[in-house]
Amino acid sequence: MLPTRLRKNEKIRKLIRETRLSMDDVVYPVFVIEGENIKEEIPSMKGQYRYSIDRLDEAVEGFKVAGIEYIILFGIPDESKKDGEATPAFADDGIVQQAIRKIKALAPDMYIIGDVCLCEYKADGHCCFFEENGDIKRDKSLDTLCKVAVSQAKAGVDMIAPSDMMDGHIAALRNALDTAGFESIPIMGYSAKFASTFYGPFRDAADSAPAFGDRRAYQMDPANGKEALKEVELDIEEGADIVMVKPAMPYLDVLSQAKDLSFLPMAAYQVSGEYAMIRTAVDEGLLDERAIFESLICIKRAGAEIIITYFAPILKKLLAKYQD
Ligand code: PBG
Repeated sequence: MLPTRLRKNEKIRKLIRETRLSMDDVVYPVFVIEGENIKEEIPSMKGQYRYSIDRLDEAVEGFKVAGIEYIILFGIPDESKKDGEATPAFADDGIVQQAIRKIKALAPDMYIIGDVCLCEYKADGHCCFFEENGDIKRDKSLDTLCKVAVSQAKAGVDMIAPSDMMDGHIAALRNALDTAGFESIPIMGYSAKFASTFYGPFRDAADSAPAFGDRRAYQMDPANGKEALKEVELDIEEGADIVMVKPAMPYLDVLSQAKDLSFLPMAAYQVSGEYAMIRTAVDEGLLDERAIFESLICIKRAGAEIIITYFAPILKKLLAKYQD
């Protein structure tokens, strides 16, 4: 057997190619910030911006030109509004709720996913509430997350994606959405979400670094693979429509194993640190730009139908250049 026979030229390579990327595979994370006339570059994530509501028209125009059809929203409320209850996360006029309405008015076809979490809205920057002794206050955390999901659904979100890592969150959210009349809104669980240093630039972007401690009491230990599969299995049992592994590149083994657990679509989140790392290496000339394309096609090959990536705005161009 001479495997090189099938690598001789692009014609034959194309015929046997197993994986292809398209704009239908990617979801673009969008940061919306309270205030006026803001389009500011995120220092730790070159080429990524925070937009205020009044500048979203410009942003949405850019998404259309770039061929982006799916976005996931993250909100950055005024520092003064953050409180102990995470109120700005579920307020009718919260930043994400406003952004959903505005984007739907500007581009009714844009598919909007709402990230459901508390860390960006809570004064202490944590994704949940705690008891005096430091234990997670699960009921209150779940109740609040449910309020966030329902308020996003009322604003017109197409899908919700809870990134909190609370036990039982998918079942609680499914029940809350159904009870509020939103049976048709799917839930994409951040099922295996690791306590990763690769989220560093995001916390800078969303101003959501925890004020004390870290997230290791609820996000997963990077050393654990079986535990990640257990998390995915629980989300499936609880009724998730899509399951996710996050981050992507250092966790492709988990992704590849998780996809064998069910027939559900799989998502992978190529997170802020992965973006910053590749972007910087390409900008400094240490890596060829094709590395961006390679990182994404490998995530798909490992088993993701859906890739959340900050590279979405340039993907159409990369595909024209590197994918025949
Ligand atoms: C909120 C959330 C985070 C990310 C997505 N949702 C931050 C965190 O858990 O600290 C990270 C995304 C990224 O790094 O690109 N819980």
